[in-house]
Amino acid sequence: MSRISQVAIDGIYDSRGQATVEVTVTLETGAAGRAGAPSGASTGAHEVLPFPSGGAAAAIATFRARVAPALIGVDGADQAAVDRVLHDVDGSPNFANVGGNPATATSVAAAMARAQESGRPLWAVLARPGIDGRTFPAIVGNCMNGGRHAIGGPDIQEFIAFAEAPAPEESIRAAIAVHQRIGAELHRRYPTRALGRGDEGGWVAAIGNVEALEILTTACAAVRDELHTPVHPGIDLAASEFYRDGKYRYHEQTLDTEGQVGFVAGLVDRYGLRYVEDPLDQDAFDGFAQLTRSVGDRTLVIGDDLYTTDARRLARGLELHATNSVLIKVNQVGTLTDTFRTVDLARSSGQSTIASHRSGEVPEGWLAHVAVGIGARGLKCGVLGGERVAKLNELLRLGRATSR
Ligand code: PGA
Ligand code: ZN
Repeated sequence: MSRISQVAIDGIYDSRGQATVEVTVTLETGAAGRAGAPSGASTGAHEVLPFPSGGAAAAIATFRARVAPALIGVDGADQAAVDRVLHDVDGSPNFANVGGNPATATSVAAAMARAQESGRPLWAVLARPGIDGRTFPAIVGNCMNGGRHAIGGPDIQEFIAFAEAPAPEESIRAAIAVHQRIGAELHRRYPTRALGRGDEGGWVAAIGNVEALEILTTACAAVRDELHTPVHPGIDLAASEFYRDGKYRYHEQTLDTEGQVGFVAGLVDRYGLRYVEDPLDQDAFDGFAQLTRSVGDRTLVIGDDLYTTDARRLARGLELHATNSVLIKVNQVGTLTDTFRTVDLARSSGQSTIASHRSGEVPEGWLAHVAVGIGARGLKCGVLGGERVAKLNELLRLGRATSR
């Protein structure tokens, strides 16, 4: 047991140039960990607040005055104790005073310090019961961006390559190959149009949902043939972003809940989707359940904004059989302990978990350790962009470490 001797917080920038924070936790032995926190753009209504009012600067001041002193002397080996201090100092149900981002950075940095002190990799410190670090997540690779992450593109937020080889090396290679093929195809179709990349490193083009799905599906099939790696199309609709007054409002159609369920089920069968995230509004548990009943045997149906990594919301989803999978974002709840509560409930209920980045990311690799430690079915971290590749490279290293 080694107590926390020092806690430091500082401002850094995320991949969108927004202010966020990093926290360094040092133990009496000198072992230390430092982690930065990401931020979302299509945030769920039920997430904790990333920062108190006043933003990152206010969060830093509060942290230095109240959080850091309270953490000194806490047993660094006791993640629950560290996380309890964060909640106690905050005193609100949604980290409104401390901020979920400073809390996340602290919680992860404490785990890193513990890893360094014990000479174990971070994933092993985070490992849930029964996890041996030899099973690796699929890559959930965002290849084309729309919605909030790419204004002017399709209304569906993300077009995904879901690459499921046993070895990270193969899955990552396949996800990158799909991304590259899509870029080449967009250039071929629109040789004179500017082509860029969105917040999560996927291509942005002024095309509609159907054309994007066709391009994605064709690219996945070509890569399957070429690399013999199982890579299939998937989408994150982030449907809450275009749900208003009881209707799903696309550029070219408006659907009620029944219509949306039918539309998404149709896409699953037409395009062979294996990954469908947030197909309905963040409070539409019944709509999710209808869709899961209809296509849950052939695709993952994942709750992101639906659950916001909150165990109470997941419990409700389990009662209603709303999904078969849960997206896991540490900063939606603010601590590893809260995250583990949700992960453990998901695992004991047969739900798959997907460890996920945010659209505004820091160029760090710790998310790969979270994915391996929780036994995630997928690591959702994008494909290109330094802040995305940092996570893929870390997963590569973890894959190599076990094959040596
Ligand atoms: P974010 O969205 O912008 O909230 O990070 C990513 C997602 O919806 O998965
Ligand atoms: Zn999502």
